[in-house]
Amino acid sequence: QALTTIDARSPVPKYFQLREILLDLIENELTVDAPVPSERELAARYGLSRMTARQAVEHLVSEGRLYRVQGKGTFVARPKIDMPLRLTSFTEDMRARGLTPGSRDLGRHEIEATVALGRELSVEAGSPVYVIERLRTADGVPMALERSHIPAHLAPDLLTESLVERSLYDLLASYGLVLDRGEQVIEAGIADSNDAGLLGLAPGSAVLLLQRHCWAGSVAVEYAVSTYRADRYQLRASLDIAS
Ligand code: GLP
Repeated sequence: QALTTIDARSPVPKYFQLREILLDLIENELTVDAPVPSERELAARYGLSRMTARQAVEHLVSEGRLYRVQGKGTFVARPKIDMPLRLTSFTEDMRARGLTPGSRDLGRHEIEATVALGRELSVEAGSPVYVIERLRTADGVPMALERSHIPAHLAPDLLTESLVERSLYDLLASYGLVLDRGEQVIEAGIADSNDAGLLGLAPGSAVLLLQRHCWAGSVAVEYAVSTYRADRYQLRASLDIAS
C-alpha cells in the first residue's frame, strides 16, 4: 500500500517518507519528463519544512530518479537500464529491453601488444592485437563507449567487417570463438570532456568504468574497457552464498 501522508510518530525520517511518496508518484502517476511539485508545494502539502522537502528531492536527484533544470524545476528522469551482470553482449542486452542497438565506429586498428596488454590477453608483448572502438547506442541514444582488444590471430579478417549493425560477439562466434567465461571489474568514474562529448553528458558527469575479460574455453578472446553512462545504467547481480 502506497504512503500518502507523513507519519510524524514514525521512526522513519520524514525526508525518507516523502521520498517514498514521491517514488510512488514517479512510478505510478507521472510520465518521463513530467514536472514534480516544487519543494515549496511539497512542504505545504505534506506539512514539512522546506529543508525536509529539499532533502527528499535531492536524494531522488542523486539516485537519478529526478533531474533538475536550472530555473525550470525538477522532472521525472527516464528509468535506468537494468544491466544484468552476465556474459551477454550489448546487442543482446538492448534487444532484451526492446531497444534497437547501434554502434558508431570510432576507429579500429592493429597494434602491437604492450607488456601490460599482452598480460591481459595472454599473448606475448609485440603480438598483433586488434583494437575496436565504438560508441554504443540504444534507439540512437549514446549509452557507452567501448574499446575491445582481441588477439589478431584469433579472427584474422575482423577489421574488414562492418560492426555498425553487427554484434561483435556474433562475429567472433563465426570464427568459432564462443565465449563461455568472463570476468568484469566495475568502478565509479568521471567523464572527461572527450568522453562526455561523445556520450552527450556534461563534463564531470558520473560514469561506470567497466573492464571485461572473456574467454572461449581456455583462450582469452577479449579485453574490453568501457565507459557507461551512470545516469542510464544500474547493474544487477544475483548473489549466491559463497561456498
Ligand atoms: C558488452 C561488453 C563488451 C563487448 C560487447 C559486445 O557491451 N561490455 O566488452 O565487446 O558487449 O557487444 P556486441 O556483440 O553487441 O558488439
